Amino acid sequence: MMRIFFVGLLMIVLWLNGSPATLAGVDAEELGKAVTAIEQLDQMRIGLASTLEGSPTEPTLDTFKAVCAPVGKKAKELATANGWEVRQVALKYRNPNHAPQTALEVQALNRFENNRQLQAFWQTDKEGVHYFRRIDVQASCLACHGAKNRRPAFIQEKYPSDRAYDFRVGDLRGMYAVTIPQIQQALQPSP
Ligand code: HEC
Repeated sequence: MMRIFFVGLLMIVLWLNGSPATLAGVDAEELGKAVTAIEQLDQMRIGLASTLEGSPTEPTLDTFKAVCAPVGKKAKELATANGWEVRQVALKYRNPNHAPQTALEVQALNRFENNRQLQAFWQTDKEGVHYFRRIDVQASCLACHGAKNRRPAFIQEKYPSDRAYDFRVGDLRGMYAVTIPQIQQALQPSP
């Protein structure tokens, strides 16, 4: 009887001890890593887009292609390197792979849409920890996400089901969605 009590007590102590540094079995360091990686990814897009803005020469097809496609590629690399899922998600998507795929993603997009101040948030479930970070439209994005009939020709050709146009500065463009699976950490021995 006493023994069961002590084992129970020990488990509660361990659980309390573990919880401040972890979120659904994912450690704080890994959460921080995800936040940093997404900020860098976002800066990469902003940097690439700004090189097109006010450029004195007419952008070539290659420069036009080289803004958001490399972001998608980098997102895949991040996912592989860290064992995360890294997605860009948008209701008005250009690449159909970026349409919301779960109720959770739809809810997160709605949350950003309804709260302009909300930059990012975490959410946990049985899958692990989800990190969502908003993406807003800036002036430099309008070269390709502005008026429908002013989109570069390669976009109209390559993305026949494109919905990612007619945005205005400050609109919600979409979000980054990172999933850090819980299992990864749970398999490691506790310190
Ligand atoms: C040079 C043209 C161009 C510019 C400028 C541009 N984009 Fe894109 N954007 C694209 C293309 C092309 C895709 C589809 C890429 C793919 O197939 O993954 C895309 C896709 C995206 C996506 C992924 C979701 C989707 O709809 O497929 C987001 C988010 C996005 N752009 C945001 C931005 C933001 C924010 C800016 C400004 C900082 C910007 N874009 C500037 C061409 C551009």
